[in-house]
Amino acid sequence: MQRLIVANWKMHGTQAEGAALAARVATNLRPAPPGVDVVLCPPFTALDRVASALAASGLRLGAQDVFWEDRGAFTGEVAPPMLTALGCTHVIVGHSERRAHLGETDAGVARKLDACWRHGLTPILCVGETAAERAAGQTEARLHAQVAAALEGRKCPKPLAVAYEPVWAIGGGRAAAPADCAAGLAVIRGVLAEMWAECADDVACLYGGSVNAENCRAFWEEGAADGSLVGGASLDPAAFVSICRQASLEGRAWSR
Ligand code: 13P
Repeated sequence: MQRLIVANWKMHGTQAEGAALAARVATNLRPAPPGVDVVLCPPFTALDRVASALAASGLRLGAQDVFWEDRGAFTGEVAPPMLTALGCTHVIVGHSERRAHLGETDAGVARKLDACWRHGLTPILCVGETAAERAAGQTEARLHAQVAAALEGRKCPKPLAVAYEPVWAIGGGRAAAPADCAAGLAVIRGVLAEMWAECADDVACLYGGSVNAENCRAFWEEGAADGSLVGGASLDPAAFVSICRQASLEGRAWSR
């Protein structure tokens, strides 16, 4: 499987800033490194300009959210065909910040996955336990419940990535240990094997949470992740380019 490195810029940057950041990343990843798919997910407002900056780069465009209907009276929402028209191939769905601050539910997440699949978009499903859930020994149950709720009644094959993002590891510079990553991904892969037996191996399972250019490799090697969902470090072009280069076949060969 190709490694998958996804930049989640969150709510950072104007159109012009996004275009400049994307151009710097694209310039420094030309030609596109082999063995790795790189996806940039800017805010909605920057998608158009970032798409132009990525033209012919081999890098992909993603959104940070999507609504589950294709059109209608849904003030403030963005529909899947609007994203595909901009050239998006991926969408982050169910990020913990949306679950915590914007009322995102497991049921809504499942509807958003269906919307992605109707339009040929690859959802990047985010799951993860909070610090309180972890302290209460509920990590496995939480991950199981989130993945199962998203896939219940949905048959594979459908394009999908799942990102294990422990909520306590996001944003604060306190990354999970690679062993925690491996344990979380094992739970996720177990649910996939139960529910999507024929295609579980095709689902890229990522880690996200304080990933940077120094620790990324440990999550792929000891943590068994197929790639990374990168927040803060993706706003630093040098750091993000370094992560992508390390993830590429060249980076892997060079490391030996
Ligand atoms: P940080 O890399 O800033 O911890 O963010 C992780 C994240 O939430 C990516 O979706």
